[in-house]
Amino acid sequence: MTRDRRPVVIDADPGIDDVLAILYLTGLPDVEIVGLTTVHGNVPAGTGARNALKAFEIAGAPDVPVVVGIDRPLVHQAATAEDVHGTDGLGDAGVLPSLRRPSAGSGPLQLLQWARERPGEITLLAIGPLTNVAVAQLLEPKLPSLFRELVIMGGAVWAPGNVTPHAEFNTWHDPEAARVVLEAPWNMTLVGLDVTARTRLEGAALAELEGSPKPVARFASAILQGYLNESERESGVRAAFMHDPLASAIMMDPRLADFRDTPLLVELAEPERGRTRPEASGGGPAVHVAVDVDGPRFIARYLSAVLR
Ligand code: BDR
Ligand code: CA
Repeated sequence: MTRDRRPVVIDADPGIDDVLAILYLTGLPDVEIVGLTTVHGNVPAGTGARNALKAFEIAGAPDVPVVVGIDRPLVHQAATAEDVHGTDGLGDAGVLPSLRRPSAGSGPLQLLQWARERPGEITLLAIGPLTNVAVAQLLEPKLPSLFRELVIMGGAVWAPGNVTPHAEFNTWHDPEAARVVLEAPWNMTLVGLDVTARTRLEGAALAELEGSPKPVARFASAILQGYLNESERESGVRAAFMHDPLASAIMMDPRLADFRDTPLLVELAEPERGRTRPEASGGGPAVHVAVDVDGPRFIARYLSAVLR
């Protein structure tokens, strides 16, 4: 590791756009991926781990440790999204599994261990439901100060949700965990649907990805095909949301976005279960919420990282 690379731990539910985020981050020279933990969400945590291992292998980073995390939300039953991500979580594109196995351990304990080894140094990028992070934090209440910062893909603060009219997928999949995390004193950035719902890979940029002979781009394009076909069937436009890659890019360069600082409260009761709403009297820390983004700049950066 060189000194000026930024150490990052990823907590994810890979899933197509989580894998696109891994392909992006492994293409940046200034990132050190310390390791990845998986959580339930798009697919079960075990499937997500296999997909992360495959992504690291394709990306030329086969030594990044991947640890399986918690496979259900704190309170309600697990619900996965194979209808969107494919039964294998990689778009059912016939991807052969990696020969590597996940490392031994459990997601929350591994998060704690990495944080304790390098206190205050590592950025935690959470791009799935927040179950692992919440459990790690319940085990060690000092966790927020053991990480340098927490960047979350999740929530829909002023924008509508994508699972219910109010709730975004990651917060809806474990609202209790999200509440535990958002009320704790993290240095915390939220990249939610306020910006990710406006940023899609489509048109000429998508054509560039699909036309590239480079192995990382071919893999990205292959796992996207089912999703793109579905988008075309539903809306007439071939386009892919880039939720997790956008959160990764904003983590690396916050100048891509504008932010509004506000404490957030996660609704637990129906009909707004999973909603993330501003709550000045909630007592939680001010969260840096991304509210505007330079989409074209992000897409250009994404392509230059994966067309490698
Ligand atoms: C989030 O939900 C998941 O399906 C995606 O991977 C992303 O993390 C978007 O709402
Ligand atoms: Ca995700």
